[in-house]
Amino acid sequence: MTESETRAESPVRAYNEWDPLEEVIVGSVDGAHFPPWHVAVGAPLSPEQRKVFRENAGRPFPADQVAAARDELDQLVEILAGEGVKVRRPEARDHSRSYAGRDWSSTGLYDAMPRDSLLVVGEDIIEAPMSWRSRHHAASAFRPLLKEYFRQGARWSSPPMPELSDELYVDGWTDQPDGEPFRSVITEFEPTFDAADFIRCGRDIFAQRSHVTNALGIEWLRRHLGDTYRVHELVLADDHPMHIDASLMPLAPGKLLIHPDRVPEVPRIFKDWEVRTAPLPVIPDGHPLYMTSKWINMNVLMIDEHRMVVEAQDEPMRRFAEEWEIEAIPCPFRNFNSFGGSFHCATVDVRRRGALLSYF
Ligand code: ARG
Repeated sequence: MTESETRAESPVRAYNEWDPLEEVIVGSVDGAHFPPWHVAVGAPLSPEQRKVFRENAGRPFPADQVAAARDELDQLVEILAGEGVKVRRPEARDHSRSYAGRDWSSTGLYDAMPRDSLLVVGEDIIEAPMSWRSRHHAASAFRPLLKEYFRQGARWSSPPMPELSDELYVDGWTDQPDGEPFRSVITEFEPTFDAADFIRCGRDIFAQRSHVTNALGIEWLRRHLGDTYRVHELVLADDHPMHIDASLMPLAPGKLLIHPDRVPEVPRIFKDWEVRTAPLPVIPDGHPLYMTSKWINMNVLMIDEHRMVVEAQDEPMRRFAEEWEIEAIPCPFRNFNSFGGSFHCATVDVRRRGALLSYF
C-alpha cells in the first residue's frame, strides 16, 4: 500500500471546526464522579464551585442530573445521525475506581467531554497529556475507537505520558489578585495540555495557556505537527482559563464568534474576518453549572459552515445564528451543561470533508 493510498483511507481527517461533519464521537455522562480534591481541580473553578467540589469529592454526580444529561446526549446523537453524521460513543465506565501514578493515586471524573482529551489535526488523532490526575486515563475510554481508526489508516499519537508528580503543581498556589496577569496552577515540569485549549483553522491553530495547558504542552504540539501548521499562542482575558472553546470560536471561514470580555483585542491575524460577540447567556442563576461559566452558551458545534447546533432554550443564540446566515438546529442541552460543557465539548469531530487550507 503506498502512502497516498493509506491517506485516502484514513477515517480520521479534520482540519477546522466547520467543514461538513461526517463522523463524530459523542461523550457519555454515565458513571460520572466528582474527582478527589486537588489544588489543580480547584484552580479553574469559581469559589462557589470549589466548595461543591470539595464537599462532594469522590461522590457520584446526582443521579437525576446524570439521567437528564444522558437523555440530552441521546437527543444530540439522534439529531446528528439525522443529518447523516456517523456517531460513535464510548463504553460506559465506573469512575469511582482508583488508580495510581508513582507517588499519587486518584479516582476518575467522566467520559463526557471527548473534546478535552482528543485532538484531531488532519489525519492524526492525538491523546491529550492531561494535567488533572483524575483525567489521567481519560483518553482510554476511546481506545477501542482509536485502535479501529489506526487499523483503518489514521495516525494515532500520544505525547510523553505526564508523571503528574507534585512538581507539576505550584506549591501553595492561590488566585492572582484582581487585575494581575494570570497565574497558572501548573508549572513547566513536563508538557501537559487539554485538547480543548486548541482550536483549528486549517494551517493555523490557536492555543492558550491555562490551568491545564502549559508552554511545554503547546511547544510539544507545535513540534509534533511540524511546518505544515502554525500554532499561535493567544493570551486571552480569562481569570480562570481552562479550554478555549467558550472564548473564541471560529464558525466558518471569515466568521469568528468571541466572548464579550475575554478577547479584549482581536488577534491581528483575524483582521479580514468578521468578528461578532456572543449574545448574553440565558441560563438561569439557580441552574447548576459545576465547572463552567454561563458562557458555555457559545460552545456550539458546526455541522457545516451553514448549520450549527444550539441549545434549544437559547433563543438569543438561535437569532444570532440566523442573523449571521447560519441555520440553528436546536437541541436541549441545559442539563448536560451542568457537567462542564456544551456541544463542542461533548463531541470530537473525527472526520470533516474538506482539504487543508490557509484562511488568513
Ligand atoms: N472555561 C470555560 C468557561 O467556564 C468553559 C470551557 C469548556 N470547554 C470544554 N471543552 N470543556 O466559560
